[in-house]
Amino acid sequence: MRTASITGWGHYVPERVVTNDELSEYMDTSDEWIRSRSGIRERRFAAENETTATMSVESGRRALRCAEVAPEAVDLLLVASSSPDYLTPPVSSQVQEGLGLPTNGAMQLTVGCTGFVYALVTAQQFIETGACDTVLVIGTELVSRWLSWNKRSTAVLFGDGSGAVVMQATQTGGMRSHVLGSDGAGAENIIVPTGGVAEPITHAHVANNEPTLEMNGREVFKFATRILGRAVTEALQASPYTVNDIDLLVPHQANARIIQYAADALGLSDDQVFMNVDRYGNTSAASVPLALSEALDAGRAAPGDTLALVAFGAGLTWAATILDLPESLPTPVAKRAAHPSVAGTVA
Ligand code: UT7
Repeated sequence: MRTASITGWGHYVPERVVTNDELSEYMDTSDEWIRSRSGIRERRFAAENETTATMSVESGRRALRCAEVAPEAVDLLLVASSSPDYLTPPVSSQVQEGLGLPTNGAMQLTVGCTGFVYALVTAQQFIETGACDTVLVIGTELVSRWLSWNKRSTAVLFGDGSGAVVMQATQTGGMRSHVLGSDGAGAENIIVPTGGVAEPITHAHVANNEPTLEMNGREVFKFATRILGRAVTEALQASPYTVNDIDLLVPHQANARIIQYAADALGLSDDQVFMNVDRYGNTSAASVPLALSEALDAGRAAPGDTLALVAFGAGLTWAATILDLPESLPTPVAKRAAHPSVAGTVA
């Protein structure tokens, strides 16, 4: 049966590591507060010459190389981002050009931190209907340029990065179910209020260092703890599986406490849940593909395994999907490093 599966992955993070102690130099905060409230130790900030497009090109290139897919073979490109280089053109067109992809089609999906899972489900539809054989799905965010050191409860949480997967028509593996959600009643809870057509930037905004990201942390926390476990449970109910079949949960990396809460509610043990929020903070739409790519690199999931991906974010939105990895996958980086004979075949 024709299904849509992950056949390659890759990620890119900027070189610059920003520790909690560094943030404490320009904000009234502390390593202790940030770690205990969020589990974050450090995050990456993009260099001046980096943009959402350049980071996307890098992670996309790595995913294509991992899948051994030539750029010419990509039928469709999807880039999930809420921090694109420009309001228009879509960053997907910049990435299509940067990667040398055919002019088949490319689109940007702006669905906050949930964007990558929405994009994955979109790719599935194109593949299962036979419209596409190969879709490159990227999630990238450069949020650091929107952080205000006057808004400490938001500024300490975010970081920059990019993750990508190649989705292809395969005979094994496949996406078993999904849940997509949106509740605009919570729209004000995560917002960049200026810079769009509702509130174009004025001199007063510039003097105030806007646009900046604003978040009602407490409300989002309550929403997240409610929705994460629920979305996975609903996706499982729509799939042939139960929670016992999940080999690895890859959740949106917003806050270790939120992830732990969801894992406990679902009855999952620590080794069934992937976390890298301590090293990257919340990278919004990049968070799930960055975590997924690191998990696959580390061999935390094997061919044929069943994964649950789940995310929540601006909108407010949420999404979950239950998927099986195909029976054949590229060798994880961890194994490649141990076997020099295959090292270097995939970046
Ligand atoms: O993808 C988007 C998803 N977003 C999220 O997942 C965010 C969800 N929310 C959260 O993770 C948490 O609400 C936060 C980590 C943002 C905040 O944790 P909290 O336990 O809800 O703290 P709080 O906002 O209730 O603040 C507690 C105290 C306050 O002081 P008072 O009023 O009790 O004296 C804050 O002023 O902590 C203070 N505070 C800080 N102190 C040191 C807030 N931010 C900081 C800070 N450093 N960075």
